[in-house]
Amino acid sequence: MTLLHTQTRATFERARKAMPLGVTSNFRYNGDDHTLVVKRGEGAYLWDMDDNRYIDYRLAFGPIILGHGDPRVNSRVAQAIGSGTLYAHTHPLEIEVAERIKRMCPGVDQVRFANSGTEATMSAMRIARGYTNREKIVKFEGSYHGSYDYALWSTANMVPGSGGSRRSPVPVPNSSGMPGMNRDLVLLSRFNDFEGLERLVRDHSHEVAAIMVEPIMGNVYGLMPEPGFMQHIRHLCNEHGIVMIMDEVKTGFRIAKGGAAEFFGVKADLYAYAKSLGNGFPIAAIAGTADVMSVIGPGGVAHGGTYCGNVVGTAAAAATLEVLETTPALDTIRERGQRLMDGMHDVLTEAGVSHTFAGVPAMFGVILEPKVTKPQDFRDATSGNNALYERIAMHMFSMGIDMEFDGREPFFICEALSEQDVDETVNRFNDSVKLAKTH
Ligand SMILES: Cc1ncc(COP(=O)(O)O)c(C=O)c1O
Repeated sequence: MTLLHTQTRATFERARKAMPLGVTSNFRYNGDDHTLVVKRGEGAYLWDMDDNRYIDYRLAFGPIILGHGDPRVNSRVAQAIGSGTLYAHTHPLEIEVAERIKRMCPGVDQVRFANSGTEATMSAMRIARGYTNREKIVKFEGSYHGSYDYALWSTANMVPGSGGSRRSPVPVPNSSGMPGMNRDLVLLSRFNDFEGLERLVRDHSHEVAAIMVEPIMGNVYGLMPEPGFMQHIRHLCNEHGIVMIMDEVKTGFRIAKGGAAEFFGVKADLYAYAKSLGNGFPIAAIAGTADVMSVIGPGGVAHGGTYCGNVVGTAAAAATLEVLETTPALDTIRERGQRLMDGMHDVLTEAGVSHTFAGVPAMFGVILEPKVTKPQDFRDATSGNNALYERIAMHMFSMGIDMEFDGREPFFICEALSEQDVDETVNRFNDSVKLAKTH
């Protein structure tokens, strides 16, 4: 089975003429022959311009936690916007969502809204700097926290081998146009490097405003923290008066109702939430302890924006969080994800392809033929057979399964994905692995 893409390619050509690379986010460009133009989505599926149906494991890079066009969310948004969309005033929906986030997420006393994960982590950095009166941010090699000049250092897109030695990784810019002086504000550690992180923090303790950590590396196969690593970060932050920021843009409301803080049993001082908060509607939040959030205000730390807390996003969040808090949606997601991981494991084992899974069933990655038995950081994880992965993904694509061509971005599971969808995916995966092994 190979899908035809006549209309899709023609529409992409139109897009090409109007937008750089035919996309509005570089991450959406999959090469001229494989960049889709999507007509619509419903539940776990999307359709391209030729009406080819795909089972969607990319889910817009994670936000679609329930399913595309979920009626429970859409009806709440439609109902809310009938009475207006945006004011120069607080709206009750903002309060409802902030209260729900406080109830669901451990360690959250106060919430402010934003419109994207980028905005949320960027604001969290400023709040941490304002709170500590220090400027440097510790981040982990391979982590992505958003598309801005303080954060686009040594993300998963860096050229392998360009980041210095393992003992002292150096920040690598991931875009032209970034001011070089920002390099001085970044301190880099490797994920799960207990000793290296401690050395870095001790050497710079009076300069470090925050350690920003994505608890599961959602841009590096879903790498997990080693037992005790989150606690280690918490302990170092307590010891040195550093703000611990958990970037829960991917993990929040996905891996547990209370995100990574609940899952790992460690509370941060500040959190950034986005993606699953709104099931695909643009909404994000910065949340934290009353103490740290108290620096926000006129004369203190600036935070605001015309669209922050708008009715569209907050109505979507109110509906999405209600489902996540009051129904077993996340259990369903976990079961379906586990079924898929088990099926893929059996296929790869039978095909004689060594592999290791990372992440949790709701967002997981698989590293093929890893050179390191137990990958712990970005460098270990990217040592696998990426060419084989890409060939498998391309075969899957041609059979109607939309998974990332680049394994660093995990599989995402939504509530609408059925057991039949999973079984169909495993069958296609079986065909694709066989094909990919030969060409
Ligand atoms: C962990 C993490 N933080 C922040 C962001 C930035 O979010 P956004 O794309 O909504 O700006 C992303 C985006 O993928 C992310 O994965």
